[in-house]
Amino acid sequence: MDKFNIAIDGPAGAGKSTIARLVANTLGFVYVDTGAMYRAVTWKVLSSGISPDHTADVIAVTDRMDIRLAPGENGQQVFVDGHDATAEIRSAEVTGNVSQIAAIADVRRILTVKQKRLAAVKGVVMDGRDIGSHVLPDAELKIFLTASVRVRAERRYNEIQDQRASVTLEQLESEIAARDRMDEQRKTAPLVQAPDAVLLDTTSMTIHEVVERILELCRTEVGGGK
Ligand code: CDP
Ligand code: CDP
Repeated sequence: MDKFNIAIDGPAGAGKSTIARLVANTLGFVYVDTGAMYRAVTWKVLSSGISPDHTADVIAVTDRMDIRLAPGENGQQVFVDGHDATAEIRSAEVTGNVSQIAAIADVRRILTVKQKRLAAVKGVVMDGRDIGSHVLPDAELKIFLTASVRVRAERRYNEIQDQRASVTLEQLESEIAARDRMDEQRKTAPLVQAPDAVLLDTTSMTIHEVVERILELCRTEVGGGK
């Protein structure tokens, strides 16, 4: 098989974007980070002075805004209405509000349409929370990546030392656990492992091992890849 789609879901810090990007590069596929799209909406809402509690205004902003994803040197670049928001969508403020915005059914409906369109050509690796279960139910390969919450917090801690020097590992662990809970408990398209997804617990796996395992699954399960 030449081109197929891979859905990668899982909780925060499981390694989804790192691994999805490497798998896409190896296969010559397009990588789509759907979390960046929910972050882009959240950034636009907050920077427009709108409260995340004002659902109707949030939906109106989501409907109007233009989100573009482009491959960049250090991962995916995100443009919102022509503005490069790549760094801003990773702020602690956006991270703290994104799950509330992502729980709004109409926001999900608007972004899901865009995501399905991006994957229509095939040859896409898409990561998120509801890709295998909801956005691309026909994806040829579905992976559910997870790791213990402590290890996921440690990974994030090592990553953001420069920006949030005062944050503790315990704080990060409880932030991550709270976000997972919101993502798992929302009514519309919650974070869930699709019944036909392959579970990979990466708690004690290196990035290289995870990538190799997924490439092997492409060969054995889909009959494609390198
Ligand atoms: O990279 P990290 O794990 O911190 O999160 P992300 O993938 O950037 O996603 C940020 C948030 O967007 C998640 O916590 C979810 O609330 C939401 N999200 C979602 O609801 N559905 C998706 N397909 C992707 C992200
Ligand atoms: O996208 P998601 O939130 O699931 O995770 P990520 O942003 O790709 O990964 C979080 C951090 O964990 C990154 O700094 C990765 O380099 C690191 N990581 C790791 O150390 N070992 C793995 N097996 C996977 C990711």
